[in-house]
Amino acid sequence: MLAHPLFWVYLACLFLIFIFLTNRISFHPPCGWGEAYWTLSWSTVFISIQTFLSILFLKQWDFTWAGLSSQSASSLIFMGAVSSWVGWMVLDHFTWKFFRLKPLLVKKIKVEKIKVDKKFVAPFGFLKRFGMENQLYQPQVTEYEVKLEGWPKELSGLTIVHISDLHYGKYLSNDYLKVILKKAKELKPDLFALTGDFINFKKDITAMRGLLKGFKAPLGVYAVLGNHDHGADPIGLTRALKEDGVRVLDHEVVYHKVKGKKLAVMGAAELWFGNRDESAIRNAKADAKILLAHHPDHFYLGKASGAQLQISGHCHGGQICFPFIGPLIVPSNQGRKYAGGFYHEKNTVLFVTNGIGCYPPLRLLCPPEIVKLVLKPA
Ligand SMILES: [Fe+2]
Repeated sequence: MLAHPLFWVYLACLFLIFIFLTNRISFHPPCGWGEAYWTLSWSTVFISIQTFLSILFLKQWDFTWAGLSSQSASSLIFMGAVSSWVGWMVLDHFTWKFFRLKPLLVKKIKVEKIKVDKKFVAPFGFLKRFGMENQLYQPQVTEYEVKLEGWPKELSGLTIVHISDLHYGKYLSNDYLKVILKKAKELKPDLFALTGDFINFKKDITAMRGLLKGFKAPLGVYAVLGNHDHGADPIGLTRALKEDGVRVLDHEVVYHKVKGKKLAVMGAAELWFGNRDESAIRNAKADAKILLAHHPDHFYLGKASGAQLQISGHCHGGQICFPFIGPLIVPSNQGRKYAGGFYHEKNTVLFVTNGIGCYPPLRLLCPPEIVKLVLKPA
C-alpha cells in the first residue's frame, strides 16, 4: 500500500485539509483563551478525526487503479468528499487571486535581494529534491509606489519602511537579523513602521535588547505588538523597545505637522489580547492617516477610522505557498483573503507584508521582505 502513488496523494490531500481547518478554526482564539491551548486542542481534534476516518476506510481500500473501481459506496463517498474538498481549495485559491488582482493603484518599483552569508542554511533542505526551496534566508527589499485616495499632495513622496514579524529567537539568529536591520536603516525613510511579533518567548527580550537601536527617521520609529509578543511579555517588550528608541502604540495616535498638513500615525492594540478601547483611533482627526496594526483583520478599524493606509503583518504572506493551492498558513478570521499584498476597500488601502521571520522555519514561494512604500495621492 505504501508504495502506491495514490496512497501518497491521499496523505497529501489529508495534510491540505488539516492545514485548511487549522487556518480557519484553530489560529484565532476567542478573547480570553490561551492561543497555544486553543490551537493545540483543535489540531488534536482534526488529526484524531482524520486518523479515525482513515483507519475506518483504509481497511477496505485497495490502492491500485483496478481496486478503486470496486469500492463500497461509503468508501467512495469518503474519497469523493476528500477530493472535492481539495478541488474546492484550488477554486478558492483562484477566486482569491482574482479578487486580489482587481485594479489597484500600486506600482512595484523594484525588488532587491539582500546578500546574506552562506553560513545561514535554511532547514528542510531536502525539499530541493522535490523542486521546492525553503526561502527562509532569501530576504529582499520590495519597493512600491502606492496611490492613496484623499492623500494630500503636500505629502506626496512620503516614505515608510515596514518591517514585521521578526519572530526573534530560536530560528533567526542575532547575526542574521543584524544584516536585515542594517539594510532597513540604509533605506532612510520618513517613518519606520514595525508591526509586531518581535519575539516568541519572554527570554528573547533580553537577547534582542539593543537590536533595534539606531533606527532613526524624521517622523519617528513606531511599533505595535503582535499576538506572539503578548504571549511572551508585552510589558517587558514595550519597555525594551522604548529603551531602543521605538515608540509602541497601544490604540494610540501620534500627530505630526508636515508641510502644513496634519498627519496621524495610529497604532492598533493587539486584536486578540490587547486593550479594546479604539476611541482614539476612531476619533482621530487629520489630513492624512496611517494605521499600523499587527493583524490584517483590523481592516475594519482602518476603514472606520478613515485611514488612507493600513499596514499589517501577521499572515506572513501565507508563508508556505504552493502553485494552484496558494498560501497555506493564514491565521485570519477571513481565511486566506488577507494573506499578503495589497487590498483596497472603501477609501482605505491595506498592505500585508510577508514579514521577516516565521514559525515553523519554512517559507515556500514567499520570501522574507523589508518593504519600502512611497505614498502618493491618487
Ligand atoms: Fe502574529
